[in-house]
Amino acid sequence: MQYQQGSFPIVGRQEIADGIYDFKIQCPEMAEQAKAGQFVHIRCPGVTLRRPISICQIDRAAGTLRLVFEVKGEGTRNLAQLRVGDEMDVMGPLGNGFDLRKTAGKAVFVGGGIGVPPMVEAAAAYGAKAAAVLGFRDKSRVILEEDMKALGCDVTVCTDDGSYGRKGLVTDAVKELLMEGDVNAIYACGPMVMLEALATLAKEYGVRCQVSLEERMGCGVGACLVCACKTKTKDGEENYSHVCKNGPVFDAQEVVFHG
Ligand SMILES: Cc1cc2nc3c(=O)[nH]c(=O)nc-3n(C[C@H](O)[C@H](O)[C@H](O)COP(=O)(O)OP(=O)(O)OC[C@H]3O[C@@H](n4cnc5c(N)ncnc54)[C@H](O)[C@@H]3O)c2cc1C
Ligand code: FES
Repeated sequence: MQYQQGSFPIVGRQEIADGIYDFKIQCPEMAEQAKAGQFVHIRCPGVTLRRPISICQIDRAAGTLRLVFEVKGEGTRNLAQLRVGDEMDVMGPLGNGFDLRKTAGKAVFVGGGIGVPPMVEAAAAYGAKAAAVLGFRDKSRVILEEDMKALGCDVTVCTDDGSYGRKGLVTDAVKELLMEGDVNAIYACGPMVMLEALATLAKEYGVRCQVSLEERMGCGVGACLVCACKTKTKDGEENYSHVCKNGPVFDAQEVVFHG
């Protein structure tokens, strides 16, 4: 795995929803190497362990990476305090990324809450052949809808309380797309219950499905075992994988959701 580590200037910073920040860092070599679904490991001020954040968008021409994160605890709270002109200590790009091989038909990109950011760069590969289904708790948490539309995607937003878009679960909207036919792949990131439901749907409809998992991380490069998750082979044999190194993207049928 080839990755870099260094301090890179912050060239963009915006709060796009309450407690959700959109940063851009100038890191031309990392941007050149990065692919959709990979992540960077960030040294957040005031905490010891780095924190993993997905790559939301890659601009190779400008040499920038876009990172969108929600304040959850001390690390992300301190990270959000950084300003344009400050430097961010980043290791990356890490992990495997999505396999975005194109075949005939549409691909569906499903994001749940703060699982939406990595779906932006992934959907860019499909443009108008992408359908995006984005789920949020309520209207105040909706992010990146316009970015997805700008890529040409057909976007459906779902909220738990119906305060924006359609009321209900993303899986209902995905099922409707599958029933219409012409879907050849599902890519997803979000809560495990959502990923599990999508894995079941994908199996039922015989569609390829890749999911990006989130686990707490230590080293980020396969050396510490903090991020172990249970996976299985095609023959059903169970073993452990590292989310940081073997993932974060896995074939949905490989993941043991109740491991
Ligand atoms: C591969 C990967 C990509 C990620 N991409 C993004 C992203 O693009 N945007 C974003 O906002 N977040 C992302 N996350 C989650 C992010 O790393 C955590 O929210 C962050 O590490 C929390 O750090 P903290 O110090 O603020 O909070 P902490 O004080 O460490 O934790 C606060 C709370 O968040 C929970 N938590 C911490 N880490 C994780 C985790 N990895 N998964 C689930 N729950 C966790 C803790 O259990 C605790 O309840 C990603 C995680 C992984 C593994
Ligand atoms: S975070 Fe150390 S092995 Fe994955």
